[in-house]
Amino acid sequence: MLGERTLVLIKPDAVKRGLIGVICQRFEQVGLKIVACKLVSATRKQLNGHFPASDDWIRGMGEKTLQTYNEYAMDPLEFLGTDDSFQIGLKIKEWNYHYLSLGPIMIMVLQGIHAIDAVRKLIGHTLPYKAAPGTIRGDFSINAPDLANLVGSACKNLVHASDNKAEAEWEIVNWFEPTEILSWERADEFLHFVQGESVDTKKETTMKYAALEQTFKALKCDDPRNAAEYA
Ligand code: RTP
Ligand code: MG
Repeated sequence: MLGERTLVLIKPDAVKRGLIGVICQRFEQVGLKIVACKLVSATRKQLNGHFPASDDWIRGMGEKTLQTYNEYAMDPLEFLGTDDSFQIGLKIKEWNYHYLSLGPIMIMVLQGIHAIDAVRKLIGHTLPYKAAPGTIRGDFSINAPDLANLVGSACKNLVHASDNKAEAEWEIVNWFEPTEILSWERADEFLHFVQGESVDTKKETTMKYAALEQTFKALKCDDPRNAAEYA
């Protein structure tokens, strides 16, 4: 396998707006490969597995929301009925369950070199009104949490993507059986990086890269960008 895997979830607002095609195109055109894909109605069990249950995560989500309210001088007590970060986090989590149950979601596993970071770059900032032009969220939405929360909704932002290796691993297991993930080779998979494309060169490149990834792991350095300091 060349590169790492990440989970992408195209949320109901994007599916209902007919954006599946353009979103997938953004991933495919940079060279990322879809190795699993399905359209589902999320079950409560799948959603429980998707959203972390830890108090820290819930409080963190509440704190981020409080920051936005602060930024726009909105009183969380007035708009959310509480200024407690944990209570706000719980509310947003419940809104997220509702959001992801508004219609079908398209879930996929993408594979490629630095797939996790590359996909995060392509989707852009969590809050669409802050997402840069050229990113999926920045190009197809202008949503903001203050307005969304006024109408009792999570901030709809079209897509979700794993943030790091650990998150990618447990999210892929949550949504897919191992047999649903296919191994196949894109015609241009090696063209981006390799001089020759013989079967031997491809094998050698895959092995070299796998060894490099093992080295990063052995050095307790998941991110190749940090590897220089260990070299
Ligand atoms: P991302 O979605 O880009 O991974 O961002 P994140 O992990 O930082 O997002 P998180 O804070 O964990 O929130 C998960 C999803 O909840 C919705 N959200 N709504 N105040 C709000 O209305 C609010 N805050 C977050 C978004 O859909 C976000 O993706
Ligand atoms: Mg996230």
